[in-house]
Amino acid sequence: MTLSGIEERFSLISIDKEIYINNFSEDVKTGLTSESKYLPFVYFYDHIGSQLFEKICELPEYYLTRAETDILEANADGIASQFPEGTVLVELGSGSSTKTRILIEAFLERQNLAHYTPIDVSHQMLEESSCSLLKEYPDLEINAIAARYNEGIDHLNIRKDQQNLITWLGSSIGNFDRSEVTAFLRHIRKIMHPNDRFLVGIDLQKDKSIIENAYNDAQGVTAEFNLNLLTHVNRELGGDFDLENFAHKAIYNEEIGRVEMYLVSNIDQKVYISELDLEVSFTANETIHTENSFKYSLDDINGLAEGTGLYVEQQWFDTERFFSLNLFAPAVD
Ligand code: AVI
Repeated sequence: MTLSGIEERFSLISIDKEIYINNFSEDVKTGLTSESKYLPFVYFYDHIGSQLFEKICELPEYYLTRAETDILEANADGIASQFPEGTVLVELGSGSSTKTRILIEAFLERQNLAHYTPIDVSHQMLEESSCSLLKEYPDLEINAIAARYNEGIDHLNIRKDQQNLITWLGSSIGNFDRSEVTAFLRHIRKIMHPNDRFLVGIDLQKDKSIIENAYNDAQGVTAEFNLNLLTHVNRELGGDFDLENFAHKAIYNEEIGRVEMYLVSNIDQKVYISELDLEVSFTANETIHTENSFKYSLDDINGLAEGTGLYVEQQWFDTERFFSLNLFAPAVD
């Protein structure tokens, strides 16, 4: 059966925007007036930042996307074979849904219809990517949810008979602290029915130089991505950051197992942000901490699952074992 027009195969619900719109000005003020300056990583992803991130994913040094894509290509059919007709493929932070295409195609090979529920804060991104997917796949139905993850997954509970394969790809998990991840996985576990599964891409600990190269690429795209955060503040809040006076820095902290990304002030300087009526002083070499990207060991992954009422049912790796794809199942209470 081929479904008809795009409109009949598409719905989009929006969870009250007030709940999830981040307060950019408050967050910038808090971050830049704290003793160790920081800016939340979520603000990387304005229009330019999202495009720069897509570029990062194609860099030779940024192995994460390639490794995950290879794993999906090799195993998507095996994954799809475990789920019955009617299963809903849910994607957290779907963005442009590039990697999901591999899973959608694998489901469509085996099932008459595929049901896809992307959850993303960006309305625009959901509409654009859904439109192109629906044009490409006539047997695909999309029920999109514009929301933050927590509010979005609560909506999955509405149909009790529905089996969900929830996916969280790209090692986005790595950008959250362990306590945030634990709380989020517990929330996911709570809404999972016994047959639901949670598929998570997680970058692994490895040689320091491989990781540091991935975040210090030769073309300088990651530096541009990091510095764009200051352009974002300049544009939205009337800041006068001079990008020439800041440098990108990314180091792998082996003890904690995370990449730390900073913007470093090259000189003593003052920056004025008019919307906040705030003057921020920097000494030479002072940093703004902009991102953490946690890298996991296999023990960390098992420990995370155990502490959140899940277990690792299946696990796949790329040939170099740089990256892992993990299928979590709910542990019996
Ligand atoms: C989105 N996230 C998983 C990326 C990462 O690798 O932590 C963001 C990124 N930051 C610098 N390069 C890529």
